[in-house]
Amino acid sequence: MNHFEYRDGVLCAEDVPLPLIAAEVGTPVYVYSTATLTRHYRVFTAAFGAQPVTVCYALKANSNLAIVKTLAELGAGADVGSEGELRRALAAGVPPQRIVFSGVGKTRQEIAFALAAGILQFNIESEPELEVLSELAAARGGEAQVGIRVNPDVDPNTHAKITTGLKENKFGIDAERVPEIYARAAALPGVRPVSLAVHIGSQVTDLAPFRAAFTGIAQLTERLRGAGHEVRRLDLGGGLGIPYSEHVPPAPSEYARAVLEAVGHLGCELVFEPGRVLVGNAGVLLARVIYVKEGRQRRFAVVDAAMNDLVRPTLYEAWHDIRPVIQARPDAPRAPVDLVGPVCETGDTFATERQMPPLVAGDLLSFASAGAYGAVMASGYNSRRLVPEVLVRGAGHAVVRPRQSYEDMLAQDVLPEWLEDAPRRHRGVA
Ligand code: LLP
Repeated sequence: MNHFEYRDGVLCAEDVPLPLIAAEVGTPVYVYSTATLTRHYRVFTAAFGAQPVTVCYALKANSNLAIVKTLAELGAGADVGSEGELRRALAAGVPPQRIVFSGVGKTRQEIAFALAAGILQFNIESEPELEVLSELAAARGGEAQVGIRVNPDVDPNTHAKITTGLKENKFGIDAERVPEIYARAAALPGVRPVSLAVHIGSQVTDLAPFRAAFTGIAQLTERLRGAGHEVRRLDLGGGLGIPYSEHVPPAPSEYARAVLEAVGHLGCELVFEPGRVLVGNAGVLLARVIYVKEGRQRRFAVVDAAMNDLVRPTLYEAWHDIRPVIQARPDAPRAPVDLVGPVCETGDTFATERQMPPLVAGDLLSFASAGAYGAVMASGYNSRRLVPEVLVRGAGHAVVRPRQSYEDMLAQDVLPEWLEDAPRRHRGVA
């Protein structure tokens, strides 16, 4: 459920009409709903009932400080994949004891920073990484808690680019080798293996792959314990999908039941790293139609958002529901239209032959389910300014990332000394 609904024919984010935000901030702009975020967080945690769980929000889905802080205030921890995300989590007030650090390529500098911050757990993805962590932690004189990320070789049936738990993927350590690496970690100074971690992929829409992965983790846990190791915590990753179109993924309650069936008997602390399921449907991208263009074969609606603002459709063939902000009459004819951006690539297409009511220049459109992996994946391609973000709460709203100015965009680049005169020459010419 989300709080983007038509009221008197105008699409609103909670109590704020989207045209108001478009008028104030301009388009394109991401708009997030606090009530939706809050609801998703509560539904996810409540799904586990009496079983205490640590929900470490995966910042990569949306790392705007206002989003992270909203979740932190509800009690969320954080799953971070870089020093930048760790700094954001800390800046948003997430307690270090609720932060896990994932990723195959943590640098020495990142590991040192996370050790100094005193995070809960490092999820280790290779032996060389384990050795570096051990060296740096031992040098500090502390002991870092480690989870060994298992590659369970399970197909999550999602897009190939967001599949992470197959043996050909770069992630985790092959399940067969985990006992050996766990023992190695137990013997090394500065680190203490206490956990297994797994994350099989993103936008997973059925339970079978989760069940297979979690059952494998339970078996490994028993095996490790049998060998005298401590496994007190399981980090079961993120990945639960959201409805983008008609296909409805399992509810958090069904997911939680599958989790508890697989690992509930082990008495472990449970950690999750959900991203998309918390923020995905809590955000929309608002854009305006610039032109409607009749091609020879197709009709195009050219909008002022582009692939640099929302890359998912072109990168993953992702479907985002697109709705006119001013509700179409129920009897308005629907006709196929290609919704495209202004960037000079055919890949700058949001939807092909989408059945839409009539559109004209100036119409506002809302791209649904854009709260996750939307703004965070935006770039300045085509020298388009980084897209702004707005957070709504009830009848109030705030710009939580202003639109980049052209001055800031130009100021990012620095001319080498031998070209320093060039702009002056240019200005002289112009
Ligand atoms: N934990 C780890 C270690 C991850 O790599 C990820 C996502 C998550 C948690 C959160 O997964 P979620 O609950 O959001 O599915 N850009 C892609 C998705 C990339 C996911 C990367 N890892 C997209 O737009 O679909």
